Amino acid sequence: MEIQDKTSLKLPKENLEAKDFLPLLGTDYVELYVGNAKQAAYYYMSAWGFQPLAYAGLETGLKDRVSYVLEQDKIRLVLTSSLVPGGPINKHVDSHGDGVKAIALWVDDAVNSYKETTSRGAKSYLSPQTLEDDKGKVVLSGIHTYGETVHLFVERSDYHGVFMPGYKKWLPRYKPSEVGLRYIDHMVGNVGWNEMNKWCEFYAKVMGFAQLVSFDDKDISTDYTALMSKVMSNGNGRIKFPINEPADGRKKSQIEEYIQFYNGAGVQHMAMATNNIIHTVSNLRDRGIEFLTVPSSYYDDVLDRVGEIDEELEPLKELGILIDRDDEGYLLQIFTKPVLDRPTMFIEIIQRKGAKSFGKGNFKALFEAIEREQASRGTL
Ligand code: FE2
Repeated sequence: MEIQDKTSLKLPKENLEAKDFLPLLGTDYVELYVGNAKQAAYYYMSAWGFQPLAYAGLETGLKDRVSYVLEQDKIRLVLTSSLVPGGPINKHVDSHGDGVKAIALWVDDAVNSYKETTSRGAKSYLSPQTLEDDKGKVVLSGIHTYGETVHLFVERSDYHGVFMPGYKKWLPRYKPSEVGLRYIDHMVGNVGWNEMNKWCEFYAKVMGFAQLVSFDDKDISTDYTALMSKVMSNGNGRIKFPINEPADGRKKSQIEEYIQFYNGAGVQHMAMATNNIIHTVSNLRDRGIEFLTVPSSYYDDVLDRVGEIDEELEPLKELGILIDRDDEGYLLQIFTKPVLDRPTMFIEIIQRKGAKSFGKGNFKALFEAIEREQASRGTL
């Protein structure tokens, strides 16, 4: 498969400079609406090595919902379920299955973040509100993005509690060891036919992001399926949101399968970074996580393509870890099978050794692996 970098072709030059009217310090947390938060928390602890951090529910005065907060280095997950019939959480789960509701972004000023984005056309999700307890205050605001997904802006410089007012420390006896996950590298959205440009323009115009790279259906297609993708990034590069849309292929695109089962646009995958992918993936595999595999022939000529790497090839091959290189270095990556009942969200593990790209050299091998899975579900 021929892959050409179209990095600078799509947007006028001035749009390539991210405008810093929305300074983002990082990803604050990712919140999933799920059918059973207690059991989901157990899964992310036991299988993924997340550590228990905070809890909110009946015991903290909530009447209608429960949330478990987990962390691993800089990654925080919030798992939320409804305790009552009806309401927005159940509606979300009914429509989408378990999935990401909020990508919360850490900011210095949640009021200004709200003003800057809504004045540029963002639809309000949560007007700024201040939450306070004896540990200080957190200011929250939020806007809608693709599908029913939202971005929250979290200002927490005056807060010294465990997570946020309303939460108490959660200290269960059960604490499985971490697996070396360090931070969210990128969060990918799947959107519908002909919607990719609309949402890339949203991130450019409303949030001041710049386009890093784009791939079209000639880059990302196999004999059967195709998709298009653009990567949007904020000014300091800490937040990267690739956006995918389906493209015409001979059979159903993996993006279409996602849109069908998620019942709309949503988060396709979270990429989590590690400093030692062999250690992390060995651990995850032993704890029951299932990864996509590529044919062993992938490894026959991979070093001809990517050149010298620090790691031994054999363990990478044994675990099915993929390798790619760009101008600045190389990266190692692997993708799980969907981690939910519906064939929707999956998780990527990535180790960057200089490379700032997303593994386009692996797309063909990867998508063929996804298609084998799709075929087994009867959705190709
Ligand atoms: Fe990715």
